[in-house]
Amino acid sequence: MDNKTQVANAIAAVLGDQLSFDDIIVKIEVPKTSDLGDLAFPTFMLAKTMHKAPQQIAAGIVEEINKDGFEKVVAMGPYVNFFLDKQVVGANILNEVLSAGADYGNNEDGNHGNVPIDMSSPNIAKPMSMGHLRSTVIGNALANILTKNGYNPIKINHLGDWGTQFGKLMVAYKMWGSEEAVKKDPINTLVKYYVRFHEEAKEKPEMDDEGRAWFKKLEDGDAEAQELWKWFRDESLKEFLTLYDELEITFDSFNGEAFYNDKMDAVIDTLNEKQLLVESQGAQIVDLEKYNLPVAMIKRTDGATLYMTRDLAAAIYRKNEYNFVKSLYVVGGEQREHFQQMKAILKEMGYAWSDDIEHIPFGLITVDGKKLSTRSGRIILLQDVLDDAVKLAGQQIEEKNPDLANKEQVAREVGIGAVVFHDLKNERLNNFDFSLAEVVRFEGDTGPYVQYSHARAQSILRKAGNPDLAGVDLKISDEAAWDTLKALADFPATVRRALRDREPSIIAKYALNLSRAYNKYYANSKILTDDTEKPARLALVKSVATVLAESLRLLGVHAPNEM
Ligand code: ARG
Repeated sequence: MDNKTQVANAIAAVLGDQLSFDDIIVKIEVPKTSDLGDLAFPTFMLAKTMHKAPQQIAAGIVEEINKDGFEKVVAMGPYVNFFLDKQVVGANILNEVLSAGADYGNNEDGNHGNVPIDMSSPNIAKPMSMGHLRSTVIGNALANILTKNGYNPIKINHLGDWGTQFGKLMVAYKMWGSEEAVKKDPINTLVKYYVRFHEEAKEKPEMDDEGRAWFKKLEDGDAEAQELWKWFRDESLKEFLTLYDELEITFDSFNGEAFYNDKMDAVIDTLNEKQLLVESQGAQIVDLEKYNLPVAMIKRTDGATLYMTRDLAAAIYRKNEYNFVKSLYVVGGEQREHFQQMKAILKEMGYAWSDDIEHIPFGLITVDGKKLSTRSGRIILLQDVLDDAVKLAGQQIEEKNPDLANKEQVAREVGIGAVVFHDLKNERLNNFDFSLAEVVRFEGDTGPYVQYSHARAQSILRKAGNPDLAGVDLKISDEAAWDTLKALADFPATVRRALRDREPSIIAKYALNLSRAYNKYYANSKILTDDTEKPARLALVKSVATVLAESLRLLGVHAPNEM
């Protein structure tokens, strides 16, 4: 029973003839300050029917009401103020967490509505950037949060697998390519070809024409071009998949840009029908002045389609395929205008559902103060960052817990978890710097700190012999437990808020806050002392472990039982 229900029941027992439970519960307020109690009930609306002053009514209610489960109930002017009995409230919270387990905090707000999430979406034959990593982990966390709120997320990797660069790559490959080298180290090798192509094309501009010609071949379905394209794509994807495996992130679809090749004519036809296409210097554009946006190019002078054209086709495809209630795009802030244009064009096309499309932008990451760019050559950085994090975590475990059984596995979970947590604890629009040593610390606002708090809770439960806590008295008299209990009670609302703001950082901050509250309690109380409240204290520990593990799971981070 939640606290409002408890209060409404008590009032209904007194006012049964005047007001129903439903009428009462909607009137209950949370006082501005806690010295006024936890909940309050105003009596103004009863003055007319009861022919009494509200002050009198409030005093009357206080006299008659059953005060069980409350520390006190007092009349304050026209209000009846309820001070909850912390022990009863605390026991209710523990009961809720223990009986729901990992489902604690689940709600059905989403009604199983489909929500495609465009996420990660790296470009074939190019290394995955820090931006793509952010998109991957933010998108994955949002998917988990959506599920917890009763939605059905669909994770789509909109691979950048089409465009003129493939023509250039083919020319380069045919000139200096080695099948073996590509197989061995696909992305690095392909990037090398691409860079060399650009260098040499400066001297020999006819190479550019050749590149265009090859891309044209590809678009026209030439067998050799198709085969090369497919091969580049497969090899690159293999490499991306290793990284996704390491992060343990999966996708429901890898329909990238190329998937929409046969779906763009229909888009262009509709644009024509609605008379939205204008010719400008041989190209086809949509004017978006009305939206205060620059014109959007849909078809180039040479007839080639663009990123935007494919995104329009993808948006429509997703509506037809999934009949979404929302369609999300987790893509860096630098593409804000692109998505504004996309939505505006869809709106002009008459699709009212364009309002359900939402770009979820995020800020930039720098590593140790340095910007990461694809062109700078520091391209394997992402894999390096993860490897280094795992190594650092391994060293810490070696120091703290050298006898740990599955050290390597735990080092992976802590190292990679640390990188992911660090990314997600920052509000997504903030730019932030990434310093590995900071990220992997076991203290401070880090993922390992939350994991460590969880592991400590698990260790207490093991020490206590993992007792069955069903049916035990859950009241805890120690006031020091109150902050932890309140934090546990906040979880369901936190899950809703994280979704409302599209902000995994709300979950990360919550997990840090719960960890801090719990560690303070842990430091100040003798949990394992054999007295009558020991089962209740263990129930608190178990609830903390459950909610911390669930918070980490939502973020895509493991919660090892020992570390
Ligand atoms: N491949 C693009 C890039 O790396 C991101 C694609 C985002 N998704 C989309 N539907 N436009 O910049």
